[in-house]
Amino acid sequence: MTRKRVLSGVQPTGDLHIGNWLGAIRNWVDLQENNETFFCVVDLHAITVPHDPKLLTQNTLSTAALYIACGMDPEKSRIFVQSHVSAHSELCWILNCLTPLNWMERMIQFKEKAKKQGENVSIGLFNYPVLMAADILLYNADLVPVGEDQKQHLELARNIVQQRINSRFANTKEKAILKVPQPLILKQGAKIMSLSDGRNKMSKSDPNEGSRIALLDPPNIINKKIKRAKTDSHIGLELGNPSRPEADNLIKIYCLLSDTPIKKANEEFAEMGWGKFKPLLAEAIISRLEPIQSKYNELMQDPAELKRVLKEGNYHASQVANETLTKIKDALGFFNGDN
Ligand code: ADP
Ligand code: TRP
Repeated sequence: MTRKRVLSGVQPTGDLHIGNWLGAIRNWVDLQENNETFFCVVDLHAITVPHDPKLLTQNTLSTAALYIACGMDPEKSRIFVQSHVSAHSELCWILNCLTPLNWMERMIQFKEKAKKQGENVSIGLFNYPVLMAADILLYNADLVPVGEDQKQHLELARNIVQQRINSRFANTKEKAILKVPQPLILKQGAKIMSLSDGRNKMSKSDPNEGSRIALLDPPNIINKKIKRAKTDSHIGLELGNPSRPEADNLIKIYCLLSDTPIKKANEEFAEMGWGKFKPLLAEAIISRLEPIQSKYNELMQDPAELKRVLKEGNYHASQVANETLTKIKDALGFFNGDN
């Protein structure tokens, strides 16, 4: 099997939740076994909405620690901070100049996020998907494991490569300057829904903390959040009924966390009331998160080691990124001082 290049990232905008884990990070762990994997903490993306400088530092380190606590192995994967590799910003500018405005105007996540920002929408927020394309292209990634909400951004990255770089600037001999990246979206878990409304995605930016389970939530908070999670008045839980999104979401979370086959859970819970199901769910979450939390605490007690891992990740990531950037700049005809 040939090793593929894999790249992904999460924004350090708050505590990671089980949606981030089940939808994206869980997949990274498996991929690192047989591929060349790069995982970055995308701090430049985190400033596309107003931010607190102290929290940015803190969240960047804790996000990196959570990557490792969730199973990313610094011996197998390059773990680094996006802003430490300046090629990300530089390629972003170049891609800005190649990307048609009307492609950007279609971006659904921008429209949703912009609504929440009111008058204060930054150009960076609009530009967010171009920076994400730069992240991916710099590593010439074959695969990008993400949750379903990122599909449109991946499509944009693919279009930029195909229609604005390869078809315009590759010479006839080489045919393609960059590979066309593929999104890797899990069949199950790609869209974990909010605990307070089964029709909305679980998200770090939801002002209601009760809508999500953070990976670092202690057992008493998990119990409380699950107890308060929205339910309905039906007896018995079921999957796939569009008028019962909460039942569908919570059974799926239970199955993913307890490695229970969906079919088995569907039968088991068909007659069970919410009052009996919820403690089982809370228990499944608590016991699955426990090893992640203890590994996280261990890492945060020794930030020097974490910083060493990020420095090494940065070193290797920079080499790959700078090489790709030079290749793109050469293809676009930039004077390199020597040509
Ligand atoms: P958030 O939307 O919570 O701020 P990010 O935008 O930082 O999260 O997303 C990080 C990764 O987690 C992305 O790959 C994204 O697709 C995935 N992800 C985010 N929310 C969910 C969810 N509710 N279910 C599944 N995957 C998700
Ligand atoms: N936009 C992604 C998100 O909100 C985070 C991200 C930034 C990303 N750059 C990336 C994901 C590159 C995959 C690859 O979740």
